Amino acid sequence: MKAEPSLNITVNGMEFDNPFLLASGPPGTNARVIMKSFDLGWGGNVCKTISLDASKVVNTNPRYGKLRDPDDRKKVMGFENIELISDRPFDTWLEEFVEIKKRYPKHILIASIMEEYRKEAWQEIVERVQATGVDGFELNLSCPHGLPERKMGAAMGGDPDIVREVVGWVMEVAKIPVWAKMTPNVGDVAASPKAAIEGGAHGISAINTILSVVGVDLKTLRPMPTVEGYTVPGGYSGQAVRPIALRHVMEIARACPGVSVSGMGGIYSGGDAAQFIALGAHTVQVCTGAMLQGYEVVKKLKQELLEVLQEHGFTHLDQLRGKALDYFTTHADLVARQRRAKAAKIGAGRDAETWRGQIKEETDALTSN
Ligand SMILES: Cc1cc2nc3c(=O)[nH]c(=O)nc-3n(C[C@H](O)[C@H](O)[C@H](O)COP(=O)(O)O)c2cc1C
Repeated sequence: MKAEPSLNITVNGMEFDNPFLLASGPPGTNARVIMKSFDLGWGGNVCKTISLDASKVVNTNPRYGKLRDPDDRKKVMGFENIELISDRPFDTWLEEFVEIKKRYPKHILIASIMEEYRKEAWQEIVERVQATGVDGFELNLSCPHGLPERKMGAAMGGDPDIVREVVGWVMEVAKIPVWAKMTPNVGDVAASPKAAIEGGAHGISAINTILSVVGVDLKTLRPMPTVEGYTVPGGYSGQAVRPIALRHVMEIARACPGVSVSGMGGIYSGGDAAQFIALGAHTVQVCTGAMLQGYEVVKKLKQELLEVLQEHGFTHLDQLRGKALDYFTTHADLVARQRRAKAAKIGAGRDAETWRGQIKEETDALTSN
């Protein structure tokens, strides 16, 4: 009898029931929704990014903009946000982490944290948060809007030297696994992930959102989302970013072999998740897909991923991981491969012709007697 496939996975010592995590953002904005996500079967939850002083975080309304399918306005292809990190008090978060871990000791809770470029601040947030019993950290070195104005987020993540240094500060005091979350708004995709690993990080998460302008309102001629007539470039996510995210995860997996990767960007189905895993991801994260489809979508995601495993006769995610990674090459090699394939086809064609000719000669010889 064939063994049933399983979605269990252990990453950096953390035991996930399945590889689907809710990504940092609205789906992990307080204890109530985090516990709801555990009840519904998510393998883990990366909370909305927190910092020591929430009073500095002031959000705007509106802060979302949608790129809709012109043929079906109900379908959202891309999603832009200018939302900042959590504006809820740090002490409230600490109390909630304790409560969540008390009620859900086996579910994986990852604290997404961000601080200013100060060693004491990073070490203080790590020490106070890990005392609550959370399972791991994700360092937000990647938020592309608002925070870079305070030299935080992507302002740090885009500079490999700062990434190495900040991760190093964190690793001096962290006693639990640490993932560094990367920005896609860089030229050299592998530089900061490599620096994070040199600094001691256990894993890399990618991608955060892509800097974007979602559109211009043609009635008012103002860019969107419009706040009192103005806007800032925001972070783009959702289905439209998936091809870009897949490329980033592939580059990171190739540049950092043996390092755990948590892949995200436009995951809406189990098949989307399987593609990230085939390109080297250990776990996958979902933000916009869960915001638009509801938390319950996890049931469908798990079923569809199991079907991909079954189709290939795999019983564990390890067998799928990285399967597509070896098939990237250079353009010159693609051309050479195509030439060889064409020549082999013509060769085979010639052989078939020769063979047909021989049969004809033999048949002719037989019938003429
Ligand atoms: C409204 C919104 C808020 C977000 N807030 C955070 C955040 O606080 N910290 C963070 O690391 N990423 C944040 N993200 C980025 C997501 O975690 C994720 O990296 C990105 O959206 C790509 O995944 P997706 O296409 O599944 O949304 C946010 C995304 C959205 C849409």
